[in-house]
Amino acid sequence: MSDPYRYLTSLGQSLAAMALYPGGHPARERAVDASFEQLNELAGDEAGPQFSFLDGEVIYRRQILRELTGWEWGKRLASAGIQRLEFLDGVTREEYGGWLDELQHLLSGETPDTAEARQLVARRIRYGAIEVRAGAPGAARPAEAGVDPEAAPDLGAEVEAIRWIHGEVGDLGRLPLLEAEAVVRSLAVAMHSRSEIRLPLLQLKTFDQYTTTHSSNVSVLAMATTEYLGLGSREVRTFGVAGLLHDLGKVRIPKEILVKPGQFTEEERAVMQRHPVEGARIIIGQEARLELAAFVAYEHHLMLNGGGYPTLRYPRDAHYASKVVHVCDVYDALCTDRPYRPAWTSERALGYLAERSGTEFDPELVDAFTRMIGEWQQSRGAIEETA
Ligand SMILES: [Fe+2]
Ligand SMILES: [Fe+2]
Repeated sequence: MSDPYRYLTSLGQSLAAMALYPGGHPARERAVDASFEQLNELAGDEAGPQFSFLDGEVIYRRQILRELTGWEWGKRLASAGIQRLEFLDGVTREEYGGWLDELQHLLSGETPDTAEARQLVARRIRYGAIEVRAGAPGAARPAEAGVDPEAAPDLGAEVEAIRWIHGEVGDLGRLPLLEAEAVVRSLAVAMHSRSEIRLPLLQLKTFDQYTTTHSSNVSVLAMATTEYLGLGSREVRTFGVAGLLHDLGKVRIPKEILVKPGQFTEEERAVMQRHPVEGARIIIGQEARLELAAFVAYEHHLMLNGGGYPTLRYPRDAHYASKVVHVCDVYDALCTDRPYRPAWTSERALGYLAERSGTEFDPELVDAFTRMIGEWQQSRGAIEETA
């Protein structure tokens, strides 16, 4: 019987031995052998062991390992950019040793020797960053002098993490929920890093980034709207997760259709319109506590008057959260450059929402959303004037 604690202890011991002894030293090799053995025992219990090192916590699969809260190696790995770690089946001793060498380089701040080594280990040992911003939502951070943070929100780590989450769902059919929640926490912190209302919205650089930047923006807008409506921070973040995952079903839509520059044919449109059902299926298959996100994935293209898609066999009112995300979704889509049209101004997009308020959108939500965006733009104007 093995357990993740024993494996992580052996990993820490190997890293300590590697710092002490040069390559090939018997003490170093013994520590690596022992750790490799522990890994195999762990992998024997359940395929594909996977860890996350976030916020001083160590997560094994979906569980926080309480005994390892504040574990020194976990913190060191996280700060070296290794916040998630996954071993696929069939890692060899050679690969494992190579990967530990690379870890040691990363921990000591050096770059690995060769690209070849990286390729060797990249196949079956996957690792990377999921950055969580320091500080709790609500904590004000002083603005950096001379920098307008609204102009270029730095959400590189979050975007990278969202791209990774989409990849996990698309390639492995696994939704990494704790990591998705960590991204939302991080976006919530970014929203509160000044005392003013702040919307860290991303501008699209290439169309490839559309799904990631759009997911991040809809999450931020859903949190800002519900916060504006007076919901508590826990609920706000639940809406943030639902916003982040609303288009998850797009991982199952062929890329040629997703990035098609022109108008869709009838068949292509039908395929595209499957993404709400696909998304709800993926989410429901994973986590009972993601019920709200599953509703939102399923319903975010439904209109107030019963239009939109998917077609419901028994028409009913969409969930409140779906109505919130629907408004945020359309606003962000309109304010984004598309291959077939340039981005609309915020004013024009708000006009679109107003025109369809009461038919496509919930009027109270359009009203609250419009006021929220207005206040944000005012405070943004004030920042620009003093900059
Ligand atoms: Fe959608
Ligand atoms: Fe969307």
